[in-house]
Amino acid sequence: MALGQLDVRPRLVAIQVGDNPASRIYLRNKVRACDEVGVDSEVHHLEAGCSQAALLAMLESLNRNARVHGILLQLPLPEALDAGWILQAIAPEKDVDGLTWASLGALIAGHPVFEPCTPRGVIMLLEREGIVMDGRDAVVVGRSVIVGKPMALMLMARGATVTICHSRTRDLAKHTRGADILVAATGRAGLITGDMVKPGAAVIDVGINRLPDGKLAGDVDFTAVSAVAGCITPVPGGVGPMTIAMVIANTVLAAERSVPARKA
Ligand code: GUN
Repeated sequence: MALGQLDVRPRLVAIQVGDNPASRIYLRNKVRACDEVGVDSEVHHLEAGCSQAALLAMLESLNRNARVHGILLQLPLPEALDAGWILQAIAPEKDVDGLTWASLGALIAGHPVFEPCTPRGVIMLLEREGIVMDGRDAVVVGRSVIVGKPMALMLMARGATVTICHSRTRDLAKHTRGADILVAATGRAGLITGDMVKPGAAVIDVGINRLPDGKLAGDVDFTAVSAVAGCITPVPGGVGPMTIAMVIANTVLAAERSVPARKA
């Protein structure tokens, strides 16, 4: 039965610690998108100097609140807080960001519970564009826990042969030139140039970099690479909105799973 008929409104709670301006914009966009599709959302703020205990207490209280289906701890956290450990306090059934070790472990084991939102958005872009992953060569540039590593696993699960490159890779172009699917997630503006891309490749730009003139740019030199690639995502307006859509999709999934199964 649909959530509406059961009188269940999916609810996402995001936590921002401190006042990182980029995080503030991301969260504002998430709240706006939730409003548009009828998902309840709220942002809880803690001061940058808050204690780990205060943050853990907030997470515990949200875990216990049956009206909250999804919990998102906006990253990065202030340096004094250990994000890797604190994320583990989110109840796995509310981990709509897919970043707890429980969610990542399930992904590695091939039984995803919540897939991390940015890679999930990339996969959906590829699927909707009709790009075959099975048997293709994919290169992921970046090895973060949020994007690079889960992205590689998710492409591999769909049959791609995946190479992960990163800041220590010796000859990056040697790898990227072989990619049918190239995902750039490094945080280095313009890293991927036209000569590094195979003609006809699908190029997905996950980077969001603020240039000295205040403009946003991806990791890919869009003008040069669009002349070579078969398809390419822009920044802004490519992967970013997909990440938000997938947070919402995961929140709806969490709400659906929270409804006890009815006896036939
Ligand atoms: N900061 C930048 N991207 C993300 C994301 O996908 N999830 C969270 N929690 N924080 C982020």
